[in-house]
Amino acid sequence: MTDTKPEIRFPEEFLFGGATAANQYEGAWNVDGKGPSIQDVMTHGITKAPDETVQSANLKLDGVDGYHHFREDIALMAEMGFQVYRFSVAWSRIFPTGMEEEPGEQGLLFYDQVVNACLEHGIEPMITISHYETPLVLSRTLDGFRSRETIEHYERFARTLMERWKGKVRWWITFNEINALWNFPLMGAGIWTRKDKLAPKDFWQTAHHELVAASRVVKLAHEIDPENKVGCMILGMANYARTCHPADEIMAMKEDERGLFFSDVMLRGHYPAYALRKMEKEGIRLETHPQDFEDLKTTHDFLSFSYYMSKTIAHDPENYQFSAGNLVTGTANPYLKCSEWGWQIDPAGLRWLLNKYWNRYEKPLFIVENGLGAMDEYQKKPGVPYTVDDQYRIDYMNDHLVQVWKAMDLDGVPVLGYTSWGCVDLISASTAEMKKRYGFIYVNRNQDGSGDMSRSRKKSFFWYRDVIASRGANLKDRESEE
Ligand code: BG6
Repeated sequence: MTDTKPEIRFPEEFLFGGATAANQYEGAWNVDGKGPSIQDVMTHGITKAPDETVQSANLKLDGVDGYHHFREDIALMAEMGFQVYRFSVAWSRIFPTGMEEEPGEQGLLFYDQVVNACLEHGIEPMITISHYETPLVLSRTLDGFRSRETIEHYERFARTLMERWKGKVRWWITFNEINALWNFPLMGAGIWTRKDKLAPKDFWQTAHHELVAASRVVKLAHEIDPENKVGCMILGMANYARTCHPADEIMAMKEDERGLFFSDVMLRGHYPAYALRKMEKEGIRLETHPQDFEDLKTTHDFLSFSYYMSKTIAHDPENYQFSAGNLVTGTANPYLKCSEWGWQIDPAGLRWLLNKYWNRYEKPLFIVENGLGAMDEYQKKPGVPYTVDDQYRIDYMNDHLVQVWKAMDLDGVPVLGYTSWGCVDLISASTAEMKKRYGFIYVNRNQDGSGDMSRSRKKSFFWYRDVIASRGANLKDRESEE
């Protein structure tokens, strides 16, 4: 690499923090008036069919009992110096079926406490309105966002939250990884109908409803409080051509279009030409209202995204090995190492992606998920302040943050902040496992369901505290040093 070693100092206004999602963190899936969500029947992860037999002791349903531990967790986040905490509101805690006219007060009271706990510690709450947790009844009755009616239910839900926490919460995200619809229509958009029974039009129609819903909520957010900042959120992926064969490049470009269609609309305010032409060629005529296209002109304030890995695209994939990945896979990249779950680790890919997004949209960026899912070994040693020696996680995050800094400092990309994924250990989304951990905060809960849910600090806890306190001065550009 030719880049010189930068002196790292993230500006004070760059927000460091962490992120969780209700369905992976809270547990308490059926208490205080909460209705079931689609996640409560996805207890075996996304690759298995939903299972509606209610199980009393189940890893997924219990989460990591954040419902009863949030105060302690937020205090630990404050100890690390978090400036922002991204969490989601379980839709069915507020509207048990998703379709009620009035919200349930008990659910709101719970999140009042979460919001207030953040503010008491000087942490900015960032709320993901919908993080893969559509109410089950709405999903089964309306097929989620496949139905136009869901737009108004979602709007009512969002309005309820924004009015309730006006002046307290100013960071909002409309949908988690909205582009997951293409591969996981149930998790991404609450479509109960099996994926293999859906026609291409169903996907585009659902996307349209989500996009209209999101743009209306941005407008609403600005009306309720001009201080509100609303981000769209996508699963971020660096798609590299596997070789410099032009056919690989074209395929990588097409893969980008698939991943960026939603943000293209949400940040530019209209459908991109490639999507219109694709629908035309496939004979798809969307059912729309004239007002929809006016609504879509209200664009999001920033682009947020998750980033865990990159993948490569080949026009002749049969000639290559495949790597595993976050909801999507590609051909393996021989230059990269993998996590224990086979996800390819690519810190420089984050810099590449930040540049790509900035150059495409010229809207500020927020990395709202990043981290290493790994198997941690709990060891309590006398005189050692931490219970897990997770140097591998420190290395992973160090290398990614260095690349964020390079994108900002060397390339001039405006980045608003960074919330690492699963700052408290939680249940994984794709495989519903406890043994796949991301946190700085260890949760005593084992894959077999044993453990008392108590919390302790990992080595990475102290490291991240120092990153925040020093604004990144303790980060090491290991790439330049090698
Ligand atoms: C993202 C999701 O896709 O990846 C999170 O927004 C998820 O909900 C994260 O947890 C990591 O994936 P996994 O399967 O390791 O939990």
